[in-house]
Amino acid sequence: MRAVVAERNGGPEVLSVGEVPDPVAGPGEVLVEVVATAVNRADTLQRQGFYPPPPGASDIIGLECSGRVAALGEGVEGWQVGDEVCALLAGGGYAELVAVPAGQLMPVPAGIDLVTAAALPEVACTVWSNLFMVAGLTAGETVLVHGGAGGIGTFAIQLAHQLGTRVITTGGTPDKLGLCGSLGADVTINYREQDFVEVVREQTDGHGVDVILDNMGAKYLDRNLSALANEGRLVIIGMQGGTKGELDIAKLLNKRAAVIATSLRSRPAADKAAICAAVVEHVWPLVADGLVRPIVHEVMSLKDVAAAHTVMAEGTHTGKILLTV
Ligand SMILES: NC(=O)c1ccc[n+]([C@@H]2O[C@H](COP(=O)([O-])OP(=O)(O)OC[C@H]3O[C@@H](n4cnc5c(N)ncnc54)[C@H](OP(=O)(O)O)[C@@H]3O)[C@@H](O)[C@H]2O)c1
Repeated sequence: MRAVVAERNGGPEVLSVGEVPDPVAGPGEVLVEVVATAVNRADTLQRQGFYPPPPGASDIIGLECSGRVAALGEGVEGWQVGDEVCALLAGGGYAELVAVPAGQLMPVPAGIDLVTAAALPEVACTVWSNLFMVAGLTAGETVLVHGGAGGIGTFAIQLAHQLGTRVITTGGTPDKLGLCGSLGADVTINYREQDFVEVVREQTDGHGVDVILDNMGAKYLDRNLSALANEGRLVIIGMQGGTKGELDIAKLLNKRAAVIATSLRSRPAADKAAICAAVVEHVWPLVADGLVRPIVHEVMSLKDVAAAHTVMAEGTHTGKILLTV
């Protein structure tokens, strides 16, 4: 099959399309003929050699895809050859075929075309699992979403808004913040010009936010703690601002707050299956009703994978960058 190969670790230029052996669906797995995949920030780290695939995963880049079921492995029930699906992957998405545990397959939500469906698995599973399953965000609470105009952020704002929470978000330009407002953010903060701790304090009458979805890690650790309300939950999902920071335990203790960090990719398959099932149950109806929509920046061809990684690195995009296979 055709797949993206990397001649070595390095910049976007190391990526090209080559021929590799077809994957085979093992027991409990489904072989998917990929129609589209999406570029994730983690893919750019894997390309550079900083984020190797977990044991047993394909070494081909690609954490999500949409496509059609091509074959069923032993013991798989509930899916038919030809079904249109999207899937959360541990790797292997930048290819014509990928083998995926059946529990990580999801139907395409009604009203979403098959290419656009590739924009959904990572954002829906990451946002639902972290905001609602891990942080226990509930209606009436306030959430701070960092990086609101990114793939994760655009989805988090919409989902949190639809589920009745007040959304505060950060972004780097007025245009991006305008998009965040149109998606349902109640308060937008330009992280280049404003101090988000101060704005949060003003906007919450000094209480702080109940939950923070953080992409920055170390750089924002102390300021995130300052922005949290009593019994607040900080969920760190990204390390764009580094991995090592100083935790003020007194601040944490006085607020009876929690700091949690998670990675979707390295979770056991059973956890991922539970997350996918929850997403299909709770999120897909909102997508089918048009209340939460995938935000797609650009659809490119797999052969333009190097250019797509350059777009991601430049950071001027809003929402997801898709690759058709
Ligand atoms: N742990 C997990 O399971 C998991 C799963 C998926 C993604 N992630 C992580 O989640 C993060 C977002 O992913 P993505 O796909 O949405 O990537 P993305 O589309 O590239 O978005 C990155 C975001 O970072 C924002 N940003 C950059 N500097 C910032 C700063 N100083 N303060 C606040 N925001 C800043 C950007 O905002 P502007 O564009 O406005 O500058 C942009 O919205 C990444 O770190 C990714 O690795 C983690």
